Amino acid sequence: MTLGKSYNILRSEIDQLLIRKIGISGFPATLVEPIKYIFVNKGKKVRAILLAESCTLFGIHYTKILQIALALECIHTYSLIHDDLPAMDDDDYRRGELTLHKKYDEATAILVGDALISLAFELISGEKDLSAECRVKLINNLALYSGGKGMVGGQMLDLRLNPEEASIESIKKMQQMKTGDLFCFAFTAGPIIAGSGSDDEEKLFEFGKLFGLIFQISDDLIDVESTLTEAGKSVNKDQKMDKATYVDHYGIEEAKKLMQNYIKEAKVILEKYGSKARPLITLCESLPNRRS
Ligand code: IPE
Ligand code: IPE
Ligand code: MG
Ligand code: MG
Ligand code: MG
Repeated sequence: MTLGKSYNILRSEIDQLLIRKIGISGFPATLVEPIKYIFVNKGKKVRAILLAESCTLFGIHYTKILQIALALECIHTYSLIHDDLPAMDDDDYRRGELTLHKKYDEATAILVGDALISLAFELISGEKDLSAECRVKLINNLALYSGGKGMVGGQMLDLRLNPEEASIESIKKMQQMKTGDLFCFAFTAGPIIAGSGSDDEEKLFEFGKLFGLIFQISDDLIDVESTLTEAGKSVNKDQKMDKATYVDHYGIEEAKKLMQNYIKEAKVILEKYGSKARPLITLCESLPNRRS
């Protein structure tokens, strides 16, 4: 099933905005072409969708935050391009096609990633519809959540965790950092842009951490279940790379139960937002059934 089919207009607006921005940014064509290759009409853009839904909780329409949502998708896309490199997960396919370093070369993949990081910060700092104070807060958060204390730190832990020895606490911490922290950026953007105060920010931060765990468990399950053989044996890419995951630690059925428990916990956090939180709850509930 497609995650959040009803968001196709938002996805396409994000694509169009990226095309416009890199068209006027002064990037050489040798960067523009691979950026379009990996980004346009590719990926679920779930982080942009969640950022938009976080703003909906506070009555802000998604058209007002497209540039911020695009910035987050730029950071996420760079993280995937680098994640696929031979020095990291060494993957040949991404978003249904060849990975960027396979389609082009490693240097291009590294530089496209680098350009997307800088573009993200250019986009937020240049969003004139938001106050300077709000922009600085978002820039600071994106730097923290995507950096050494967040996504990049989690990626580093992921490379080094040994599945034979890793405790569940260490796996949880790594997954919350590598995957959860970008979701935390998405969910806390709503209260920051609305200026609704730290209570909402804290609640939605907690929601982001849980959403990240649920999302990463579903990612790890997709990896295992899509490679199960008829005999029930699976040699998936996470196993091949010796990755420590919830699924590896607990087994498929137990990991699924835990995912359902996290969904319950996450839904409690959203109760205070009433019917405005319905789309977020639906997205959260659909994660166990996603296939891509
Ligand atoms: C994949 O993220 C990497 C993880 C953090 C698990 P997505 O499943 O959101 O990837 P795209 O953006 O849709 O390709
Ligand atoms: C990727 O996790 C997380 C980030 C890029 C931050 P994975 O390595 O499990 O993602 P896939 O399976 O390659 O999409
Ligand atoms: Mg990885
Ligand atoms: Mg990977
Ligand atoms: Mg994975």
